[in-house]
Amino acid sequence: MPSLPTKENVSALLSKVSYPGFSRDIISFGVVREIRIAEEVTVQLVIATNDTGVASELRDRVVKALAAEEGMPPVKVLVDVQAPVQSGGQGPVPIPGVRHVIAVASGKGGVGKSTVSVNLAAALAAEGLRVGLCDCDLYGPSIALMCGAKERPYADEEGRIEPVIRHGLRMMSMGLLLEDDSPAVLRGPMVTRYTQQFLRNVLWGDLDVLLLDLPPGTGDIQLTIVQTVPLAGAVIVTTPQEVALIDARKAVSMFGKTNVPILGIIENMSGFIDPEGRRHEIFGSGGGEREAARLEVAFLGSLPLDPALRIAGDAGTPLIVSSPDSPVSRTITEMAGTLASTIRRS
Ligand SMILES: Nc1ncnc2c1ncn2[C@@H]1O[C@H](COP(=O)(O)OP(=O)(O)OP(=O)(O)O)[C@@H](O)[C@H]1O
Ligand SMILES: [Mg+2]
Repeated sequence: MPSLPTKENVSALLSKVSYPGFSRDIISFGVVREIRIAEEVTVQLVIATNDTGVASELRDRVVKALAAEEGMPPVKVLVDVQAPVQSGGQGPVPIPGVRHVIAVASGKGGVGKSTVSVNLAAALAAEGLRVGLCDCDLYGPSIALMCGAKERPYADEEGRIEPVIRHGLRMMSMGLLLEDDSPAVLRGPMVTRYTQQFLRNVLWGDLDVLLLDLPPGTGDIQLTIVQTVPLAGAVIVTTPQEVALIDARKAVSMFGKTNVPILGIIENMSGFIDPEGRRHEIFGSGGGEREAARLEVAFLGSLPLDPALRIAGDAGTPLIVSSPDSPVSRTITEMAGTLASTIRRS
């Protein structure tokens, strides 16, 4: 008769099971409360979500991961579903003075999140809102560059950091804290700590909106954010091609699993308009809108490939500020208007 698996064996198998919607595994996510081994293996999970689908998906994943192992006794999975905590305890806690926190996210990298974040933030500020912009991309911060900010932020005796003010935005970025060109080499727990500090330890002051520019994907930073602050919602940026749309779907699903509303999808790099005004479909177009309809979320509009957007970003003055009347800036202003009215209703 094969010997019973040990708790370590079971734990090792569970560390290959990812939490639905995230790339993070359930062991490091802290979802596994207890493993008991007798005639059957009992795995007790604790999750905080309103999405009833998560429990059954998790149960299936755990059973599948364990049952495939030779000599595994019958597997029983108990899932304790707790309502997400909105304040106090370990759940997300609002940032004092900040009314709405919006994440700008994507599944795939390089689709234009940071460009969209900076310009949306500046457009919201131009509407008279008090806006903060937090660069949560600790590995590849680009907000400081795109805002033309170089100064080191000031920290008070208690280690609380003053955001830097640029183009009417209160902003914070790892790019301001790093020496030039030094890459942010951060391991898991440090990533979580820095992300929490950016949200909690920066003196954001009174803000109508705090935009969070996220790194691509569904990793630790995203997870820390949804656990740390209540989000008014997420804006998903995608490019029109299928590979980006597949990843956009994953991002939408990640927020869905943590009860964060999707405020809308933006299709970026949607066609290229040449100097003669002719349109060229580089990555195709319309995919973002179709995906939004399929996922039953709002479509906020599309932005063409426009060298002016990149040049403005590289020069540190968002296009919305340098040419507020250009067609692309007008589109961004409209998107900001839609977003502002959506969050005002919430
Ligand atoms: N619509 C556009 N037209 C022209 N260039 C663009 C457009 N959108 C983004 N870019 C350029 O593409 C590059 C990538 O954009 P950006 O850094 O905003 O993407 P990202 O999604 O934030 O990337 P990452 O996933 O690495 O954080 C930048 O050089 C940016 O200036
Ligand atoms: Mg970016």
